Amino acid sequence: MAERLAILGGPKAVTLDTQEQWKPPIEEQKQAICKLIEEQFFSGSGTGIGKEFEDAFAAYVGARYCLSVNHGHTAIMSALYAVGVGPGDEVLVPDLGYIGSYAGVIHLGARPIFCDVDPKTGLIDPADAEKRITVHTRAIIPIHMNGYVCDMDGLFRLRERYGIAIVQDACHAHPAKWDGVNLGALPDLACYSLQGSDPYGKPASAGEGGMVTTNNREFYERMLIYCHLHRVGVEQELTNPLYRMLGNQGLGLKWRAHPFEMALGLISLRTLDYRNERRLENRRILYEGLRGVPGVRLPEPYPKAQDGGFYGGLHLFYAPEQLDGLAPEKYVAALQAEGVPVSGFRDRPEHLRPLIQRGFDLYGHNRGPIPPGTYNYKKGDFPVTEALLGGLALRLPAYIEPVPGLLEQIIAAFRKVAENYKSLL
Ligand SMILES: Cc1ncc(COP(=O)(O)O)c(C=O)c1O
Repeated sequence: MAERLAILGGPKAVTLDTQEQWKPPIEEQKQAICKLIEEQFFSGSGTGIGKEFEDAFAAYVGARYCLSVNHGHTAIMSALYAVGVGPGDEVLVPDLGYIGSYAGVIHLGARPIFCDVDPKTGLIDPADAEKRITVHTRAIIPIHMNGYVCDMDGLFRLRERYGIAIVQDACHAHPAKWDGVNLGALPDLACYSLQGSDPYGKPASAGEGGMVTTNNREFYERMLIYCHLHRVGVEQELTNPLYRMLGNQGLGLKWRAHPFEMALGLISLRTLDYRNERRLENRRILYEGLRGVPGVRLPEPYPKAQDGGFYGGLHLFYAPEQLDGLAPEKYVAALQAEGVPVSGFRDRPEHLRPLIQRGFDLYGHNRGPIPPGTYNYKKGDFPVTEALLGGLALRLPAYIEPVPGLLEQIIAAFRKVAENYKSLL
């Protein structure tokens, strides 16, 4: 039945409040922070609330070792240090990514090498990554973008075949699993961000902060010496004599998290499973309703992936060939006019960012891993990523508690645009 699209002056399909209705436990947060103020516990690690949160997080993901740091960035950088990334090395990262995933690569003196993504998921494509492996490749950083789990079996094969380490960027994906095992318990390490506040921040959030988990004792000890200056008990923890001789100063960096963050993180962790289950159920409803709607292509998860977290929203792909080539911008504008809270993905692929295009004299005096002229990446070099970022990848909110009836209205809006798209051609 022909209906007038809202973008052309018709009524909106979505009339309900599109805001998330779930509210964080603010009273509990206040009490936890006030308690630390009363105790005057404003600094310290390896003890108190920080240790309590690390133990709870390790238990949550099922990993033997867990360390808290001040950011997701530094979580990743300390994990890269743990696996031995340094000058002259190359580290594989997806082109549909984020600088936070690879800033640590550059600052350790190594070079990020970009890989294309799998069109079925928008996540790093192990086959494309394999083509870019050289004798210099030390590690790979899969990003479980928005909580969608990468092809870990494909990555494990590369790890075994070429001896490269896997440093997972699980910043969006704290509850996610592969084959029943939380990502935090998989080799070699998993890194998390705690940035933001619930429900829009990272899946477990604390304002700022980061976590790293691993089952590898050597990696754990390397992180301890790298950036955990004066951590309580650090000398007793270190079993490697080479590391132990450094004393409680280690290598001098101090990237510990603030106790207030640890208190907030602990509270957030308590509701994480509830929020994740609700998000999974609401995703199921949306995906079922959108399956088969012309113009929509749903991601095809890897068989062993159990997505979770969903920071930043749910994935959808636009299939213009099903709507006579209607331009992605017009499609998104029509949905938005109907009241659908849909958004496009990140603005540009990593290989076209000025830092990568132009390079940078990182340490001055023509030194550093990415001097001008390092890369000669061009537009079109990563076709899958570029097509997705060119408007084919979309995001919807990952609702915990939407207003009743909202998801049905969103589905109806997609159908309305699909049935009336010809008026936009
Ligand atoms: C994919 C990804 N990796 C790493 C980070 C870095 O986390 P943080 O902001 O806590 O440093 C973020 C933060 O948004 C992220 O989205």
